Amino acid sequence: MTDSAYKFPERRSQSGSAERNSKPIADTLCPLLSKWFSTIQRDARLLEIGSGEGEQLAAIVKGLQQKNDHSHKITIQPTEADPQGCEDVDKRCNDLNSEHICINACHCLDIDREEDWKLLAGDGFDVVMLFNIVHIIPFLTVQNLFKHFGNQSPSVLNPTQGRIILYGAFDEEGKTRSEGNEKFDVYLKQKDNRFGLRNIQTDLEPLAKQSSLFLEEKIEMPSGNVSVDDAKENECEC
Ligand SMILES: C[S@@+](CC[C@H](N)C(=O)[O-])C[C@H]1O[C@@H](n2cnc3c(N)ncnc32)[C@H](O)[C@@H]1O
Repeated sequence: MTDSAYKFPERRSQSGSAERNSKPIADTLCPLLSKWFSTIQRDARLLEIGSGEGEQLAAIVKGLQQKNDHSHKITIQPTEADPQGCEDVDKRCNDLNSEHICINACHCLDIDREEDWKLLAGDGFDVVMLFNIVHIIPFLTVQNLFKHFGNQSPSVLNPTQGRIILYGAFDEEGKTRSEGNEKFDVYLKQKDNRFGLRNIQTDLEPLAKQSSLFLEEKIEMPSGNVSVDDAKENECEC
């Protein structure tokens, strides 16, 4: 497939990188996802933004199939920016549907197109996965993305138990975490000076907070990557 079939060819994963990341992502996140889903009193709903070619999602589905206690169903919604991206995801994930895990057809979602979000808004996804994406979109697009996790409509997140998981390379506390990340940041900015590693504390957490999401856990991952889990502030049950 030629690059021109994609809306944002320069934002797609480098060949092989998604494959390399998918095992550590699944090994780390599947136990967490299973734990969270077990606390939900109905079928669980998982959304991914910018699914790429569906490699991470496929690894997660396979991991969940092993972990899931099958007490409830999980519905998964992949998304990509254009029809070609969606076709790639569907090709990889269609065969993974099972009795307890239903993977919907990939939804065409460009973060900056308000109308693309409308079909996703509803009773709320329990988890939204954002893997390797916030560094490769303009910061304005990152801001637009986080707006859809707030309590205003159209929000896509479960307003009381919703979570987002960001995975990728980030800056922290105002500095780069490694020489590799520094080089990656230069590479991203050469592609487009609106791209670049985001700082967890100064770029992302303020946006999360505006949507009542708070940093719950930060997990060190291979190759200098990090998984960041932000959860909705628990409602007082007193
Ligand atoms: C670096 S890739 C990461 C793909 C996958 N999540 C992974 O970890 O391998 C970034 C993805 O975000 C998608 N993307 C970029 N800009 C987008 C936008 N404005 N709306 C929706 N998706 C976008 C691209 O099409 C691309 O597949």
